[in-house]
Amino acid sequence: MASGQKVPARMTAIAISEPGGPRVLKPETRDVPQPGPGEILIKVHAAGVNRPDIQQRKGAYPPPPGASDLPGLEASGEVAALGDDISRWRIGDRVCALTPGGGYAEYVKVHAGSVLPLPAGFTHTEAAAVPENYFTVWHNVFERGGLKSGETLLVHGGSSGIGTTAIQLASAFGAYVITTAGSKEKCDACLKLGADRAINYREGDFVAAVKEATGGKGANVILDMVGGDYVARNYEAAAIEGRIVQIAVQAGAVASADFSKIMVKRLTHTGSTLRPRTVEFKAAIAAALEAQVWPLLGTRKVAPVMDMIFPLSEAWRAHERMEEGEHIGKIVLDVG
Ligand SMILES: NC(=O)c1ccc[n+]([C@@H]2O[C@H](COP(=O)([O-])OP(=O)(O)OC[C@H]3O[C@@H](n4cnc5c(N)ncnc54)[C@H](OP(=O)(O)O)[C@@H]3O)[C@@H](O)[C@H]2O)c1
Repeated sequence: MASGQKVPARMTAIAISEPGGPRVLKPETRDVPQPGPGEILIKVHAAGVNRPDIQQRKGAYPPPPGASDLPGLEASGEVAALGDDISRWRIGDRVCALTPGGGYAEYVKVHAGSVLPLPAGFTHTEAAAVPENYFTVWHNVFERGGLKSGETLLVHGGSSGIGTTAIQLASAFGAYVITTAGSKEKCDACLKLGADRAINYREGDFVAAVKEATGGKGANVILDMVGGDYVARNYEAAAIEGRIVQIAVQAGAVASADFSKIMVKRLTHTGSTLRPRTVEFKAAIAAALEAQVWPLLGTRKVAPVMDMIFPLSEAWRAHERMEEGEHIGKIVLDVG
């Protein structure tokens, strides 16, 4: 292992002391992880906060085998040490990365294939807001959902970290974007980001609005994080040959739906979770993002929507903010 001179043996991390509310997030002193072959150690400057971190904190989303028990699925910082077999990265490189866990800490080790350079002109807090959402949206909307220019995307939860990313990327790649969100303020934010239509789901029926906006055709791709009664309604809102991609089931994992719609409209209902996928799979997404999306980030044609930044020691406040549901875009931890 090659390392910079200043890597300490111990670090401060935010751990989940027991399953529960935000206050179970507590600072702990831990050993600095040692990068193995194909891995690098990052001195973390900022870490993104994601909804799955809350699920993990509550005990409902255990880390996959071999991953850190610390929360944190993305981070930005400097390369501090290299494991064996690393050719691309050098100590001191400014990078951001998808992490299988452990982002809420002063140091995190990651597989080199999950690492990308800081987008041009980005601060560390901005870069930490990128990996989890961009990897997830790229795979689910473009690879799994096969969204093409000129097609219509319906994205639920438009003001979320995932939603704001999906709106910007789909719009940048030439799709017509319809989104749902739970307030006028959130709908306005989605329109500013490039959504063509924003539907306040508390006031109107998204199925009728999608039909009206598409001349009765429906949406070609639907990115859904809601589940529950949205399953049947997504089948209604989808176009012929529509693709519905499930990335979460916040309103329920069990649903009743008219499955004849799948046959009649030749629908595809698929889904995925990113965290347990192989390092090779994540490296392939990273390569696609670097080629096709990093230039857009570099010119700020797309950029993460920054909600609030909290110090690492106040990670519990960041979780409170996310659970209150008032945020628009990304919440990030400043690690120093
Ligand atoms: N499968 C994967 O690989 C993967 C990866 C990352 C994230 N995710 C999932 O993607 C979702 C978004 O993540 P995030 O970090 O961006 O979270 P976030 O910013 O907290 O967003 C959550 C969103 O869900 C919406 N929502 C929740 N319950 C709803 C309901 N009953 N009806 C309609 N909308 C509802 C909220 O909309 P309003 O505020 O407008 O009500 C909010 O915009 C989470 O569920 C997360 O677990 C999945």
